[in-house]
Amino acid sequence: MPHLALRSLAQKYGPILFLQLGEIPTVVVSSARLAKEALKTHDLALSSRPQIFSAKHLFYNCTDVVFSPYGAYWRQIRKICILELLSAKRVQSYSFVREQEVARLVRRVAESYPGTTNLSKMLALYSNDVLCRVAFGRDFSGGGEYDKHGFQKMLEEYQELLGGFSLGDFFPSMEFIHSLTGMKSRLQRTFRSFNRLFDQMVTEHLNPMREKEEHKDLVDVLLDVQKEGSLEMPLTMDNVKAIILDMFLAGTDTSAVSLEWIMAELMMNPKVMRKAQDEVRSVISKGKEKVEESDLPKLTYLKLVIKEGFRLHPPAPLLVPRETTERCEIEGYQIAAKTRVFVNAKLIGKDPKYWEDPNEFKPERFMESSVDYRGQHYELLPFGGGRRGCPGINFGVLLIEIVLANLLYCFDWQLPNGMKTQDLDMEEAFGISMHKKLPLCLVATPFGISMND
Ligand code: HEM
Repeated sequence: MPHLALRSLAQKYGPILFLQLGEIPTVVVSSARLAKEALKTHDLALSSRPQIFSAKHLFYNCTDVVFSPYGAYWRQIRKICILELLSAKRVQSYSFVREQEVARLVRRVAESYPGTTNLSKMLALYSNDVLCRVAFGRDFSGGGEYDKHGFQKMLEEYQELLGGFSLGDFFPSMEFIHSLTGMKSRLQRTFRSFNRLFDQMVTEHLNPMREKEEHKDLVDVLLDVQKEGSLEMPLTMDNVKAIILDMFLAGTDTSAVSLEWIMAELMMNPKVMRKAQDEVRSVISKGKEKVEESDLPKLTYLKLVIKEGFRLHPPAPLLVPRETTERCEIEGYQIAAKTRVFVNAKLIGKDPKYWEDPNEFKPERFMESSVDYRGQHYELLPFGGGRRGCPGINFGVLLIEIVLANLLYCFDWQLPNGMKTQDLDMEEAFGISMHKKLPLCLVATPFGISMND
């Protein structure tokens, strides 16, 4: 569990560590003050990403936004991402997708009553379906298509393969290690199944006979950008596929994982659950079937619950690794170019210097506080910060808010089989995003919704 090992090392040696991990010089920063140095003062010097073996294989040689090295190409695609793919207007235009998929999630959960519902699985289906529809204009969860395309398996593989802590990642000059560990063939298999699916999607979108939807999906948007021909560096079809893959993968796991942890914390903290439920049930007009996006601004306590969830369980506990483009100095230490840098957001979120009772789930702590998660407050960094900070914050938060509000509005939640809160397993499984080790299985009793829908 790298994040636990790094915590012990930080406790022993302080908030900045140098580790020689195989051939890779690595710096780990674990305090808000030094995170500010890294992400603000030295933002430019730390603005590249290491070209890890798995990312090269899965993301078309790192031509996506997340793993692209710093430079003119990354600047161009990041701009497309911010102006075209994830602009406030575009994100808003998909509200009908989110609302339909939330309704489907509510139906699926209601169907499991009076049995237990595997909420982790339901949340993963929800976020996959939203992102598939937004990215490709259709979902894959109906009609066994997940299996047909190996979707579920592929997503699990992605999560594991991109963890970045596999042996071969630390010995880049010895590529054969990846073959010995079986990593290379897993990567090739996963890449091939994704690529096949993407080729099919692109072909469908290029078909002039294809019926145009009212709202363009992201493949449409990117193909339009590509066709316009005004780009300094024209996008190849592989570039288009890499960027779409990013949108899809960066958005699904992170939002599902956040929801999974927040619901687990609410089960552990019944008073907080009650308060959040009271809010949503009192604010939403009586008789309304579901919470709509237009209701969300009224749910102020729910927003604090989400913030507290991000603090204790940032979905990417070490953010996404950075790489220095030039020499820089942090805390009097010289850091050479091409050093890998991790910011330990998870540890920073629990630093007793900034947080009273850091291990407790207390959304009230944010009531009188202006601290938020948009990258300006370095004690709370679930989305990173600086020029490589997450461009999908608005989208990600909406995906979470609308689900959480509806889960609390439509159901009362219990642990199964007389289980007590202290029996709930909160163990973490390390990956590029950090899931619960065991899925969250709960009993959801429908509250005021018709079971005949
Ligand atoms: C709860 C939801 C999310 C969380 C917690 C999250 C977290 C992160 C983090 C920690 C980074 C790295 C930041 C850094 O290096 O400083 C990142 C980057 C990124 N995220 Fe998100 N993310 C979320 C949702 C999304 C969504 C919905 C999308 C798009 C659909 C998205 C797209 C991206 C992209 C493209 C990058 C790479 C930016 C770059 O390297 O220039 N994220 N995200």
